[in-house]
Amino acid sequence: MAGCGSRLFFLTVCVATLLGANAEIKFTIPVGRFFTYELLRETFQNDFEPLSKLYDGRLYDDPMTFKCNQQSFPDLPEWLRFTQRHPLDNGFLYGTPTSPGKSIIEIFAINKRSYKTTKEILVIKITAEKLMPYQAEVFIKLREIEKVLPSSVQGEIKQDLQKLWDTENLEIVNITNALDRGGRVPLPLAGHFEGVYVKVGSEHYFSDCLLRVLTVQHQRQCSAGSKVKIPGGCNFCSIPSNCISWCRTQLFDLTKQEPEPPPPAVGSGILEDGGDFDPPESPPSRDFFPDYMVTVIVPLILAIVLCLMLAYIMFGRREGVVKRNARTNQIQLYHHQTIHENTEELRNMAGNRSVPPPLSTLPMFNSRTGDRGAPLQSDSPRIPLIMAQHDPYSDTLPRK
Ligand SMILES: *[C@@H]1O[C@H](CO)[C@@H](O)[C@H](O)[C@H]1NC(C)=O
Repeated sequence: MAGCGSRLFFLTVCVATLLGANAEIKFTIPVGRFFTYELLRETFQNDFEPLSKLYDGRLYDDPMTFKCNQQSFPDLPEWLRFTQRHPLDNGFLYGTPTSPGKSIIEIFAINKRSYKTTKEILVIKITAEKLMPYQAEVFIKLREIEKVLPSSVQGEIKQDLQKLWDTENLEIVNITNALDRGGRVPLPLAGHFEGVYVKVGSEHYFSDCLLRVLTVQHQRQCSAGSKVKIPGGCNFCSIPSNCISWCRTQLFDLTKQEPEPPPPAVGSGILEDGGDFDPPESPPSRDFFPDYMVTVIVPLILAIVLCLMLAYIMFGRREGVVKRNARTNQIQLYHHQTIHENTEELRNMAGNRSVPPPLSTLPMFNSRTGDRGAPLQSDSPRIPLIMAQHDPYSDTLPRK
């Protein structure tokens, strides 16, 4: 059983490897040109449910997320970015390579319905190429990066810019989300967009229309913040959402750039012998008396003064309080004495009356018979103090 299982596993791995090898997509791109790869959900859906169409007659459209990284690295190469607005949208890998080489990109797609995953491999070979000498960057306000990356939209934008530049020789160099360049997240309202920067390059020198950006008049208008008129005959945007913001257009003439500073001279890597270390002399002596005065004596004097003040308040001024207390005590004593004398007087008066005292005042008395009981010898140990404890049905009074 175990052997069969392991053989089955081995087979699965083989098939998976074969399929994996099939899912390898190769690209060769030049340095300095914009690269886009759209992660089509439809393609991955086929990987997840290859037979669902045959057997269920049903097409799934599952939400998916992607995880992309350079093979045996945790993240993508520096020049490559990934974006996907929503799990029900396609994802995009995009960026501009800056140096020749080879990048192997792993793409993992996660099906958010079944939580199955599938993998795709992208092999990108980057070849050396001369940079476009003249470059211009335009800002498209009414766009979002995911809306611009599909090749059809890139084509539209390129067409407009070709007309503006007045040449067919034009390539897109870079497309960036304005949020990656310090832009703000827009309000979630219609008509508010993140905005994208599009950089294009050409072998041809800038057209007259583009050169208007450099005029003093245009720059003054832009810095004043007034509504900038599009230079006459230069409005080439066929689709309103692709129109550029003239004030944010920048031109780069790479031919005029000053040569890079020479690289620093590399030494042998060994420091020169600087002799033995000579420790500094001991520092000059300092007078610490003023410091001592300030940190010890002054707080001490303050503490003594505070002590004396506290002592005066506690002992000197409490006499009055004691005196007042004594007087109160005297009054209370007098009051007590008066009550005592009055009670004595009342008792004497009652004793003088010639009326027999109430029965209840006699030592032992039965309320029903009126008998007087024998005086209780309470000091006899044989008679319990509470009679009812012995016979609950009897009177609480002692029986004869
Ligand atoms: C493309 O734009 C990004 C974002 O601004 C920047 O980091 C990158 O260096 C640019 N690439 C090129 C080749 O200009």
